[in-house]
Amino acid sequence: MAKGRTSVYVCDSCGHDEPKWLGRCPACGEWNSFKEVHLSPPTGKTSGIAGSRRHIIPREIAEPKILSAINPTPPQKYPTGNEELDRVLGGGLTPGAAVLLGGEPGIGKSTLMLQVAANLPGLGLYISGEESPGQIKTRADRLKLPQDSLEVLCETNLETLLVLIGERKPAYLVVDSIQTLVSEEAGAIPGTPSQLKIAGHRLTTWAKSSGIPLFLIAHVTKEGTIAGPKVIEHLVDTVLYFDHSSSDLRILRSSKNRMGSVDEVGLFRMGATGLTPIADPAGLFLEHRKDGPPQGSAVAAVYEGSRILLVEIQALTVPSKGGIGRVYSDRIDSARVSRIAAVLERHAGLRLSDQDIYVNVAGGLRISDTGAELALALALFSARSAQTLPGDMVAVGEISLAGEVRPVPHLRRRIKTASDTGLGRFFASAAADESGKFPGKGHIIHSVRDALAAVLS
Ligand code: TYD
Ligand code: MG
Repeated sequence: MAKGRTSVYVCDSCGHDEPKWLGRCPACGEWNSFKEVHLSPPTGKTSGIAGSRRHIIPREIAEPKILSAINPTPPQKYPTGNEELDRVLGGGLTPGAAVLLGGEPGIGKSTLMLQVAANLPGLGLYISGEESPGQIKTRADRLKLPQDSLEVLCETNLETLLVLIGERKPAYLVVDSIQTLVSEEAGAIPGTPSQLKIAGHRLTTWAKSSGIPLFLIAHVTKEGTIAGPKVIEHLVDTVLYFDHSSSDLRILRSSKNRMGSVDEVGLFRMGATGLTPIADPAGLFLEHRKDGPPQGSAVAAVYEGSRILLVEIQALTVPSKGGIGRVYSDRIDSARVSRIAAVLERHAGLRLSDQDIYVNVAGGLRISDTGAELALALALFSARSAQTLPGDMVAVGEISLAGEVRPVPHLRRRIKTASDTGLGRFFASAAADESGKFPGKGHIIHSVRDALAAVLS
């Protein structure tokens, strides 16, 4: 930027700046989004935007410290009272932590946050830019929530909100949703990436400096001009996403967590009284059929966070039109499905390369546990060979490129969960106890070839 410039043109949509007005933003492609921003006169040697921002340099400059001299204060977590949310947060809420809750409109973000906020200790503040206080009250009545420790306000102006929370110092703050906030600094249109970035930055900075926990709700948007939660993921401590499964099941996942692991999932059921945590979800994703499983279906015991879940992997193979097969799988990574199909073709003589392969996980859970690979291989075998698998079978194991089946952690717990759910025939690469035996009807499987032989016997 040339020295001595007194104004720049800043894109309303993404914050990109240019020395001259342009009809279309080269950074985000938005039309007619450039607005002139006047810069205050530069001081010292810096000029342009950098010069205009000199006033934001803090008056007190903190001294850096030698790492060994820093006295660590381990974050004190306190439970929110909602065990599924606590599980995903990594044990509870941390003072000053900013939690982003994303999800599609209508999935239940406001319901969950109202249920959680009404039960948190201290006087909290729920800022809504989407619903009126009357609507929030009606929902709280319907959910039979305690109502004496939560204040509600409809406010969409970021600067006003910052003054308000600075004065009132709530015990915790919920902003529903961040896309409704407007900062005067970023133009008049709510929901643009620069609006989200400014609001996200100001609110997380406030949370950190005040030690007050902050929940930011953000809608996931597929298209249109409203920016999605991705824009502020880097600013917050924890990123949670709410996902659909079957019509009433809701899955809460964390994709970033500075306060704990990201492996846990929270499971809820949406009903007439809001979101109810599902306490014992082991067999939740299994379909119970009278006549046994259909072709192409195999059950795996997967390890999700700290829990074992039994899931039905479903496969379908059909001859591909062009002779070169494709994989359609969104619940298990397609590259993994292709790899298992290649191993079956090479080491078990099962031709799959001329087939289109469709893979699904019943109930909609996305699976990343490598322990599901043996069940995936058996589901593919069952689909391709048109043979059904034993109805009480649960398979667990990771598959190598050489066709070996490798042991996976927590085998004993996986077996126990499966037998508690009534599935007693276990296929795994190691025995479950020191005696070298499985409890019940187990098969020790060392290779995919072994697995197919055991199924066919
Ligand atoms: P909501 O929390 O408003 O979704 P979001 O904030 O993510 O947009 O939830 C809206 C849906 O949830 C709505 O379709 C109705 C349903 N719902 C129930 O089924 N039971 C309930 O007790 C509540 C409060 C909502
Ligand atoms: Mg909402």
